[in-house]
Amino acid sequence: MPTVHFDLADGSRISAKGKPGIPLMHLARDCGIEAILAECGGACCCATCHVYVDPQWINRLPEMDEDEQDMLEFAEGVNQFSRLSCQLTFCDKLDGLVVRVPESQY
Ligand code: FES
Repeated sequence: MPTVHFDLADGSRISAKGKPGIPLMHLARDCGIEAILAECGGACCCATCHVYVDPQWINRLPEMDEDEQDMLEFAEGVNQFSRLSCQLTFCDKLDGLVVRVPESQY
């Protein structure tokens, strides 16, 4: 199974193997990353699942749709590497993906 690495604000890293087809947000929640609140459960209407994608990976992800772009406006500290983790479906091609949990999520 492919692996994703979550870099936390305290400098630690949590790595998780994920079944392809699962939203990244669910993987984060399953491995106990409470800073990914995911208040809306993945409906793209809360922005509490905001992550920064490692620059080496950002162009390998599918483009954002309009709903994700609109909702990201409600997240704090948005930059060019920001994505909503509920909108990113994990897959074999993303094996080794690195994302950082923004400090503003804590
Ligand atoms: S979980 Fe609410 S927007 Fe992602």
